[in-house]
Amino acid sequence: QQKEKSDLLKAHELSGTFFHYILKNTVHGKDAVQYLEKRGFSMKLINQFQIGYIPAMRNTLSDFLHKRDFSLPLMEEGGLLSKSDRQQYVDRFRDRIMFPITNARGNIIAFAGRILGDGQPKYLNSPETILFNKSKTLYNFYQAKKEIRKTGRIVLFEGYVDVIKAWDAGVLNGIATMGTAVTEEHATTLKRYADQIILCFDGDEAGQTAAIKNLSILEKMKFQVYVAMLPDLMDPDDYIMTHGSDRFKREVIENAVSATKYKILYLRKNFKLNDDNERLRYIRSALKIIAQLDSPTEREHYIKEMSSDFDYSFETLKQEMFEIKQELE
Ligand code: GTP
Ligand code: MN
Ligand code: MN
Ligand code: MN
Ligand code: MN
Repeated sequence: QQKEKSDLLKAHELSGTFFHYILKNTVHGKDAVQYLEKRGFSMKLINQFQIGYIPAMRNTLSDFLHKRDFSLPLMEEGGLLSKSDRQQYVDRFRDRIMFPITNARGNIIAFAGRILGDGQPKYLNSPETILFNKSKTLYNFYQAKKEIRKTGRIVLFEGYVDVIKAWDAGVLNGIATMGTAVTEEHATTLKRYADQIILCFDGDEAGQTAAIKNLSILEKMKFQVYVAMLPDLMDPDDYIMTHGSDRFKREVIENAVSATKYKILYLRKNFKLNDDNERLRYIRSALKIIAQLDSPTEREHYIKEMSSDFDYSFETLKQEMFEIKQELE
């Protein structure tokens, strides 16, 4: 299996170079370059992330790999090729922008292929292979490692494009999962480099639900978690395109709130706060979040905030919080 692994690594490395070359230096790459330019990718950024393109023909990569004597069955197993109805080896990715996915050493182990424009699936990822395990892999971790170690801080995004655009904006510690929740394996790796993590997920419902889910996994792993908030219907890339890099860093990243504060704010969506009964139910739900905090100082901090936000006395809220805490125990 060692030989298979090293062949497959070699094939991925060559494929990455090949796709990048096609994008930049051939007529086939023209539409892809235009698409990327329209989305605000500079050539410098395309180079930094070795972004490429694979044409629509069915044998661009299979011919390339065949000529270099790679075993085509191995290339299929490795997720670069697939088998046609007529049992021919053909390209698995076609007419897609190719984002190389690297391991922690910087070797390409998989690709994410984005369709140009609309269509399904939007992203086609490599399947899990002997090289690529989704629950261990983090997009851009290799490049972000240095800054993560330096700052003790990670920024976790939902999308590959968000990571890339944030990098362009000067956020050099950004990573993403492969479209799934953070796993224990991810968290264990990350914990060796940093204790703080900022979640910067899409402003839509899906993104916010994903943020809440990841938040609890990361809190269990003892990270200090923050959440950066985006306007509804915007993701980090949209925000940077609309408002620019400086505002993104200042108003989104640097304004990230603590996990507890985020949970208390997120809860508001479920209540009509101008209705007395709902407002009281909201207060109780928020106090329940506060009651679960271990540290008395932290509890006091958030009760004080609630007290000033909602104009109830600190003492009353504190008493109610203790009653809730006793019910929980
Ligand atoms: P752009 O539309 O190119 O800006 O991508 P995005 O990152 O904004 O996409 P979106 O918010 O829809 O999804 C976030 C992440 O989920 C992506 O980066 C992927 O990892 C994953 N994802 C989205 N669509 C698909 C899909 O069709 N298939 C798979 N496997 N993953 C997807
Ligand atoms: Mn994700
Ligand atoms: Mn989304
Ligand atoms: Mn998005
Ligand atoms: Mn996007």
